[in-house]
Formats: sequence, C-alpha cells, structure tokens
Amino acid sequence: MKLAILTSGGDSAGMNAVVRAVVKAGIIKGCETWVVREGYEGLVRGNTEAVAEQSLDETPIDLPDTSSTTDGSTNLVQNLRFGDGDLLRDGTGDHPGTRSLKGRYIVRVGFDDVKGWFAEGGTLIGTARSKTFRTMEGRLQAAYNMIKEGIDALVVCGGDGSLTGADVFRAEWPKLVEALHAEGILFSRISAEKVALHAHLKIVGLVGSIDNDMSMTDLTIGAPTALHRICEAIDNINSTASSHSRAFVLEVMGRHCGWLALLAGVSGGADFIFIPESPPTTESWEDEMCQCIQRHREVGKRKTIVIVAEGAIDCNLKPIKSEYVKDVLAERLGLDTRVTTLGHTQRGGRPCAYDRILPTLQGMEAVEALLEATPDSPSYMIGVQENKITRVPLMEAVKMTRSVSAAIEAKDFEKAMSYRDPEFKE
Ligand code: F6P
Repeated sequence: MKLAILTSGGDSAGMNAVVRAVVKAGIIKGCETWVVREGYEGLVRGNTEAVAEQSLDETPIDLPDTSSTTDGSTNLVQNLRFGDGDLLRDGTGDHPGTRSLKGRYIVRVGFDDVKGWFAEGGTLIGTARSKTFRTMEGRLQAAYNMIKEGIDALVVCGGDGSLTGADVFRAEWPKLVEALHAEGILFSRISAEKVALHAHLKIVGLVGSIDNDMSMTDLTIGAPTALHRICEAIDNINSTASSHSRAFVLEVMGRHCGWLALLAGVSGGADFIFIPESPPTTESWEDEMCQCIQRHREVGKRKTIVIVAEGAIDCNLKPIKSEYVKDVLAERLGLDTRVTTLGHTQRGGRPCAYDRILPTLQGMEAVEALLEATPDSPSYMIGVQENKITRVPLMEAVKMTRSVSAAIEAKDFEKAMSYRDPEFKE
C-alpha cells in the first residue's frame, strides 16, 4: 500500500505526532509513505516538476508556489528539518537538509524524516483551507495527482469539514477515475497496471482540532494542549487579579463548542462561565451573574474570573460579547474589569504529553484501519472512548456533530449536549 497523509483546517498541537506515527507505523507495516504539503491544496497542486519530467502537454494548475522564499534564507525543508530519509536519498539538494520542495506538494518520506516531530507545535507539513478542492475540477486534479504517484490510501487529520471532504472524495472516486479515463488522461500518461490499482480509494480520518467539538469521540487532537494553555493563562492573570482585586473576562476559542471554556473554568477556578450548549435560561442573566459574583466577593474573594466561550449565546441565541460582560461587571458591581482575549496563543506551542500519546496511538490505528479496508467498509474516523482507541464510521460522527448546531438553533440544548456524548444513539 502507498499511503499519504495530510493535515487540513486549523492547525492543532499533536498534528506532527500524527504524521510521525502514520509514517513510522506505515513503514513498519510495509507501506510506502508520503506526506501532502498544505492540506488538500497540495493534493490539487501535486508535483509540477514530476509532470514536467513526464513531458505532459499541460500544466495541471497554475497557482503560485508557496514553498519558495524571497530572501533565499530558508526553505520548507529546513523548517521541516528532514533527516536522511527517502527524500534526501533520491535528492538533488544543494546540501543535506535543504532540498528544494518547489513545485512538489506530494513528497515521499522515510523513517528519519519525521524524527522528533512529536514535540513540535502546529503542523510542519502545512495546512490550508482549500477552495479548489471544493470544486469538481480540483478533486479531479487531486485524483490524478494521487494516481500518478501511485498513492491508494489517504489519512486526513483535521476537523469535521476536512473529514467530510475526505469522505466526499472517496465516494466520488470511481466517478473521478472514470472522468479521467473519458478524457483519455489516465492511460495516455499512466500505465494500465497503476490505474487498475486505484479502483477504490482508502481513507481514514483523525480529528485534529483544539475545539473538542467532534461527536463520537471523547477527545480531539490538540484540545488537551489548548486547555493547558488557557489554564496557564488563568494562573498568570490570577496574580494581577488578586493583587488589584480586579475582575477579568477571558474570551477563549472553541467555535460553537464550550468544552475549552467549561474545563478551563473548572481547572482555573472561574466564577462564571458562558458556553454555547447551555446558555443562560433567562433574559436577565446579568442579574444572575452579578448575584453569583457578589456572593463570592462577600465571602472574601479578591478576584473575579469570568470565562466567555467565543460562541457563547444568550437564551435568544444572540452572541454574548466579552466587552458587554465587562461593562456589566464594572457598572453594576463597580469592579475594575479587563477583557483578555487569548486568541491563537491557545492553539500553538509544544504539545502536552497527552497530545503526543493520543496521536501516536491513533496514527497506528489509522494505518491498521487502512490495511484492513475493503471496498464495502465505510471510511473510519479514529476516536477515543473511555480511554480506548476506537474506529467509528466517519460520516456518522460528522452527522452527529452537525446535529449539535441544529439542536442549538432549535433551542433544544439538552439534545445538543447529548449529541456530544460519545455513547449517544438516536
Ligand atoms: O477550530 C479551531 C479554531 O481555533 C477555533 O477555535 C476558532 O474559532 C478558529 O479556529 C479560528 O480560526 P482562524 O485561525 O482561521 O482565525
């Protein structure tokens, strides 16, 4: 099996550990391993150099190349710190570790290429929110690029949108191959044997997201690290809050999911928390919040921490804004109040231990799932439930995740919460 891995959507800590685990497990199991740079965008762009070598009469896609630098000081390989794996063995680089990846988005990698990657933040192979892959032409080009390199299995690490993209690609695959045949592209450029190997595409999804917003799994890759960052930030803010007896309104990420806000509140000792799945039940939530904080102050608390999830809403589904919460605390309770928006400091940096362990175990399971895949088996998402690595049908998990938003819009908050429960069955 020739397998490729890509990371897609927002980066998260632990994505590099996934790539490392998939590459290493793949090689140990006898597979040829590839990485796709820049997410689905890289799959669409493919390897223009290789195309030129084959003297093809058309350039697949005319897009700017992001791997070249203007000052010539660094290139992607240096950033990747590729070792002496396959990439360099067949390399033509100026000196070890600096082989140019210009025009090459689908890159063969060896064991050493991913050495030490578990400790790196973000995603070293790049990620993108690709518009071209959303079009039929883009997916056709992506299919062509994969077949050309002989790749028949794909691991995608990203959020629900990225995993849906993967499933659509797999479902469409026979149609894409047929269209390439119809245009006379495949057999004129690629051997019949190679094409025959690609009747079906094997796909597996891993959930990389700091939001922990995917149903049918307890935890997504990157969420523990982001939580840890928020927790540290609260500890830091506590110093000033206590010293000046101030109130802080902390806005945290999570999109439409309140997991980060809720658990940060528990682990950081917040006074009040706003999350999308459980909005205030009355229109006078300001009174409820002020009474609660007033009580805490009366029993001697010198500081106040209120956490607002970025997707927090009131009982009429209107966004609850941090600045407004600050004004309420200042005007009604007379508290010296500041807003801190943690932003992307939550997403980056070195993965915590669990964001190395989880992706390693899940990456190994992903390779197993691909090796066992049949044309009739569904695409799987690798999850974790009650501390056990699981395989669940990818589209079921995506569907249930989407149901959370629908339930919130219908103001059925209890149902929204149950869709987040990994064991929930309709
Ligand atoms: O999904 C991860 C996430 O960090 C969300 O928590 C946040 O809403 C969003 O991505 C921010 O996206 P961007 O980095 O594109 O601003």
